[in-house]
Formats: sequence, C-alpha cells, structure tokens
Amino acid sequence: MLVIVKENYESMSAEAAKIIANRMRRKPNLVLGLATGSTPLGLYKELIRMHKNEGLDFSTVTTFNLDEYVGLPPSHDQSYDYFMQQNFFKEININPRYVHVPQGMTKDVNAFCEWYEKRIVEFGGIDLQILGIGGNGHIAFNEPGCSLGSRTRIKTLTEKTRNDNARFFSSMDEVPKYAITMGVGTIMDAKELLLVANKSNKAKAVKAAVEGPVTATCPASIIQMHRNTFVVLDKESSALLEIEYVDTWESMLFE
Ligand code: PGA
Repeated sequence: MLVIVKENYESMSAEAAKIIANRMRRKPNLVLGLATGSTPLGLYKELIRMHKNEGLDFSTVTTFNLDEYVGLPPSHDQSYDYFMQQNFFKEININPRYVHVPQGMTKDVNAFCEWYEKRIVEFGGIDLQILGIGGNGHIAFNEPGCSLGSRTRIKTLTEKTRNDNARFFSSMDEVPKYAITMGVGTIMDAKELLLVANKSNKAKAVKAAVEGPVTATCPASIIQMHRNTFVVLDKESSALLEIEYVDTWESMLFE
C-alpha cells in the first residue's frame, strides 16, 4: 500500500488524477472503476481539465460505477447515473457504449447483478478502481458487517445512511431503501485500487482502514490485503496515521 498525503483537497485531487491519467496513457483501453460522493468530485474536475487542456483521451476507456440506488431512474437528480453524467461524463469524450452504471430501474435485480459481474470480466477486469470511504469505514454500499467476499448484489440501506441522505429528497418516503453495489470481492478483483479521502471526519475511518485490523467492521480495511493500493489523503484525514507516508507517487511503486 502506498499512502500519499497532500497538503489540501486540491493537491490531493490533482495527485489522484495524475495517477489515473498515467494509467490511461499507459493503457488507452483502460477499464476504470468509478465512485460517486463529494470526495472524488475534485479529481473528476482535474481529469476534465486535463481532457480540455492537455488532450487526455477517454474515447477508448471503459468505466464501471460502484453502485446505484434501486428505484431511481437515470433522470432523477439524486441517482448516481445523473451524478456521473453531470459531474464527469458530459465534460469528456467518453463513448457512452463503454459506460456502465448499475441499473436502478432493472426489473430483475439478481440477473442484472450477475450480468454486471460478467460484463466486468468480459472487459478483462477493472484495471484501476477509485474508492471513497464512509465515516464508518464503508466502501461503496458495503457497510460494516458485510461479507468481505461479496459480489455485486442488492443491499438494504442502513437507517443512518437513509437519514443522512434524506436532505436530498422532498420526503423520507422518497429516500431509496435499497441499492445495487459491487461487493467487496468485486472491488478486490480490480488490478489497482485508489482510495481517496479528505477532511477530519474521515480520519478515524482512514486510520482503521490503513492501520487497523482487517475486519468486516471496517470494510475498507480489506485494502490491506490488496497488492496494489494507493491511498491519497489530505492532511486532515491523515491526522491519526502513525506509519510512514510519502507526498508523491511518481517513480515509486508499481511503475
Ligand atoms: P463522500 O462519501 O465522498 O461524500 O464523503 C464517501 C462514501 O461514503 O463512500
């Protein structure tokens, strides 16, 4: 695991984007795993800037998103499909045929989840998976206590997650109860992982994920079992770490 700590959110986002751009230049048909949430917004912005100013080419890149709410159509402004279109896809030259976001409106969730797993394999597996981390150590919708071997499946949202998200909906009834999410096992099959975190409210989860025991109580701690993991942090989210870390990845591991 290579832990990189940057001064602030902007430099953290730029560092993460630099890793992704490097992998895209090395393998133009890269299979990129994507995450939603507020943390990766900065790195998407930086990738958009690189596309517009430096010609970073997404035309042969394939993407797979981690998760999606069940019951929300892509047109719903709280769906993850909508989030990705607005914050990333509409600004780059990605081929829509190579974009995959779990289908929250599918009639057959189990068949869809099986198809999603197969589709990832058909594309040769995910090369680089971007991950955020929840304050409770979740990755995607894999909450504490989940199976560390899990595959893409439907999960019931915890009451806490539903309450946290309620502010984005006009009533509690509208807040989705279920989500489709890649499993921890699906995530671990990616060839490289890139976990990003910022702000002090993530410091405990980052500490547990990077230095704590590997446990389903903190699903993100499984990244310690992965051979090729980048963890890119701002100063605040790294505050509780005791191990050595670096301030740039260039000319380091995995090259
Ligand atoms: P955030 O969410 O980036 O909005 O903090 C991260 C997560 O819950 O995975």
